[in-house]
Amino acid sequence: MQIIENFSLQSYNTFGIEVKAKCFALFRNIKDLSQILEQKKISLDQLFVLGGGSNILFTQDYNGLMLKSAINGIEIIEETNEYVYVKVGGGEIWHNFVLHCVNQNWGGVENLSLIPGTVGAAPIQNIGAYGAELKDTFYEVEILHLDSLIKQTLSKEACKFAYRDSIFKQEYKGKIVILSVTFKLNKIPIVNTSYGDINKELESQKISSPTIQDVSRAVCKIRSSKLPDPNELGNAGSFFKNPIVSDSQFETLKAKYPTIVGYKSGNNLTKLAAGWLIEQCGWKGKRIGDAGVHKNQALVLVNYGKAKGSEIIDLAHKIQDSVKEKFSVDIEPEINIL
Ligand code: EPU
Repeated sequence: MQIIENFSLQSYNTFGIEVKAKCFALFRNIKDLSQILEQKKISLDQLFVLGGGSNILFTQDYNGLMLKSAINGIEIIEETNEYVYVKVGGGEIWHNFVLHCVNQNWGGVENLSLIPGTVGAAPIQNIGAYGAELKDTFYEVEILHLDSLIKQTLSKEACKFAYRDSIFKQEYKGKIVILSVTFKLNKIPIVNTSYGDINKELESQKISSPTIQDVSRAVCKIRSSKLPDPNELGNAGSFFKNPIVSDSQFETLKAKYPTIVGYKSGNNLTKLAAGWLIEQCGWKGKRIGDAGVHKNQALVLVNYGKAKGSEIIDLAHKIQDSVKEKFSVDIEPEINIL
């Protein structure tokens, strides 16, 4: 396996930040991985497994070995009248997998169309959009422990999925590689258009009985109109998570700010739209040097060209401080900062 030294990561992160990894290697299977790790006998804290680079902000050169999965393949492992169980290599591009499902008429991931990144990275933060989350169709995952090189299969329960969270962001952080993910998809698709914008989009196209193909197209259209294309403007999607507050705190805020946006989120809790909070603080469309807040979606920070990771972080801190000052609400980054 080829290990490249002093490797530029600029085209491997959608923020387009120019940093270097001391060493970089691609792996196609477990054999490749064990060869790489044998050649470079380094500790776990000097290893990092990169997905599509679409949920990460690099703030400095990486002084270790960066690994990237090239494990490919989409394979049916079981089928019933109702469901198809599909095992997908961790290195597959997420949207290509979604398109494959939509073309086969396998339902369940169409609302997650056009999310950047790889299949292997998707369970880490339990990707979600337009009323669906990865966990809804997730069946199991195959992982490799980096210290022992032992393979393990984890069920959905074992992954501890929550809003933009899982065991892979907690106990297993930096300790494992996701080899493949198995999904349980519907052969008799049930469309989910509960998310406001999807219905609006379908209505405008006069589609009254939408198929999953229609839903996928609608989601692609909405995403493209709201979210900047990383190929044109560096970004990593939502930079912050939507904060969850108590219902009573929400009521207090609503009394003062009647247009505040919040959604019920479990018992006595409300999820606030961080984009709204940030916009109200005047940040939407603002730019400091080459770091900025997107003009159509205040939850997305952008790199206008040569921003350093530290400049994006400085901007993020300023935004967090003003949201805290105006609304007494803490907003936390959704992305990984390295
Ligand atoms: N809003 C504003 N101003 C803004 C942005 C949003 O007022 O600048 C308001 C909108 O009007 C809307 C509400 O906030 O009423 C929610 O906005 P939107 O529907 O755009 O969704 P979001 O909560 O900002 C979340 C996910 C996105 C996902 C969308 C659609 C998080 C952190 N983000 O954003 O995920 O695409 O819902 O389902 O949960 C990502 O994770 O990278 C991502 C893009």
